[in-house]
Amino acid sequence: MANKSKFQAIRGTRDLLPPETALWNHVEETAHAVFDTFGFSEIRPPIFEPTELLARAVGGETDIVSKEMYTFEDRAGGLPDPGEMSPDGFLNEIKRAMNSGQLANDAAVIAQLEFQLENYNLRSDSERARLIWLYFVRGLRLGDSISLRPEATASVCRAYIEHNMQQLPQPVKLYYMGPMFRRERPQKGRYRQFYQIGAEVLGGGDAPAIDAEVIEMVMTFFDRVRLSGIELDINSIGHNAPNCRPAYVEKLKAALEKAKDKLGADSQRRIETNPLRVLDSKLEHEQPIIATLPRIADHLCAECAAHYAAVKRQLELRGVFFKENWRLVRGLDYYMRTTFEITAKGLGSQNAVCGGGRYDGLVELLGGPATNGIGFAIGEDRLILSLQESGKGAAPQGRDVYIAWMGERAYATAIRAAKNLRNAGFSVELPPTESKFGKALERADKLGSRYALILGDNEVSEGSWTLKTLADGTQQKFTEPELLEFLKA
Ligand code: HAM
Repeated sequence: MANKSKFQAIRGTRDLLPPETALWNHVEETAHAVFDTFGFSEIRPPIFEPTELLARAVGGETDIVSKEMYTFEDRAGGLPDPGEMSPDGFLNEIKRAMNSGQLANDAAVIAQLEFQLENYNLRSDSERARLIWLYFVRGLRLGDSISLRPEATASVCRAYIEHNMQQLPQPVKLYYMGPMFRRERPQKGRYRQFYQIGAEVLGGGDAPAIDAEVIEMVMTFFDRVRLSGIELDINSIGHNAPNCRPAYVEKLKAALEKAKDKLGADSQRRIETNPLRVLDSKLEHEQPIIATLPRIADHLCAECAAHYAAVKRQLELRGVFFKENWRLVRGLDYYMRTTFEITAKGLGSQNAVCGGGRYDGLVELLGGPATNGIGFAIGEDRLILSLQESGKGAAPQGRDVYIAWMGERAYATAIRAAKNLRNAGFSVELPPTESKFGKALERADKLGSRYALILGDNEVSEGSWTLKTLADGTQQKFTEPELLEFLKA
């Protein structure tokens, strides 16, 4: 019996459907246009990357890397099947694949295979030995570890290094849009495949004006798509020198230790692993304790404090309203100095529509030259949700012209008319089969068409076409060139 169970999109993923996709397109076109006016160009990195790149950039201890990445082994195609040859034959084939470069050279893999062969008598023909062998070999990591990208800053930095972009005029200003993947618990505004629109500025120094202009750009974009009721929070988390953030983190740790008994289990654990993240806590009973903790703004080194003050001044110069939020620490390891987040209305607990910050040193950490960096990423899904909640969703898309035709000759004319109208930029529905005019007009109405073009054999032989305006039912007669003129007007 055929299996009739229905397929569904995987948990945390979803289909974006019309008419909503029209709004997605509008948002993306606006991003292209606005970012272009700030001198940014588009980059399209791949959606999977070496796991090692992401772990190093985002941080191995972060939730994103340690819990949420979709990671898999990229086993090369055409590798020998361990079930189809003797263990020795298989070992030889793996060596050959490594020598030819089909497989990464990995002495550890060869050593493991040889060890198994020596120690477990797997050369015997017994069924049991064969099963142990297969179980062992299939569990072996033969290929590289790759991951679906949970974010794209790491990719952009990798590309900057890989393509020697430090030789271009600095700074290099890039933006991207596309899907990201995190295995988070799905809820409103949180998905496992979600979309970001992001931008990065690489190189060219760390002038506070760069921070401010990047923030001005994202605020301009939100304004252009008419996202209302947003709030911009900013902070500085200093830098990684002994007289700056590390000294503050020690003070914070000491204060947290004193209040340890009153904190929840998660925060207690974070005192050791990542004390800054305690500031993120939303737990009601921890709030009074957090309110008394030392604040990083009071402990920045002189350079970071001056930078932060200058960023704020630069934002004021640009008329960008912000709120200082000393608890804004962000969940990725690469940040230093300026961090920011933008929240929007109508989103419940997942209300951050944009996050970003400065990450000087990341390019160097990934093997490139010492390079400044700053950027942001907008959560497009959340942006769309917020627009919809405030009544700015997309209207269902209609057609400009529905061609109601009857008869062989009329159909030939209808095909030509459709072609000409489409070339002139009008959306046209040309039904593939004939139907009575009454039925056709009903359908035109259902599709939300603005006009119906009525083409019967009479109209065609007279060269005079009838155009019906569906909203009020009025009809007008036109020759073909007149019709085009009328519609264009
Ligand atoms: P992030 O804060 O991890 O930063 O993500 C940026 C935005 O992506 C969030 O504010 C949110 O709107 C959206 N987002 C994140 N996870 C999800 C999810 N599971 N479902 C829906 N939306 C989500 C970054 O990714 C950094 N790379 C930003 C950046 C660029 N910093 C410097 N340059």
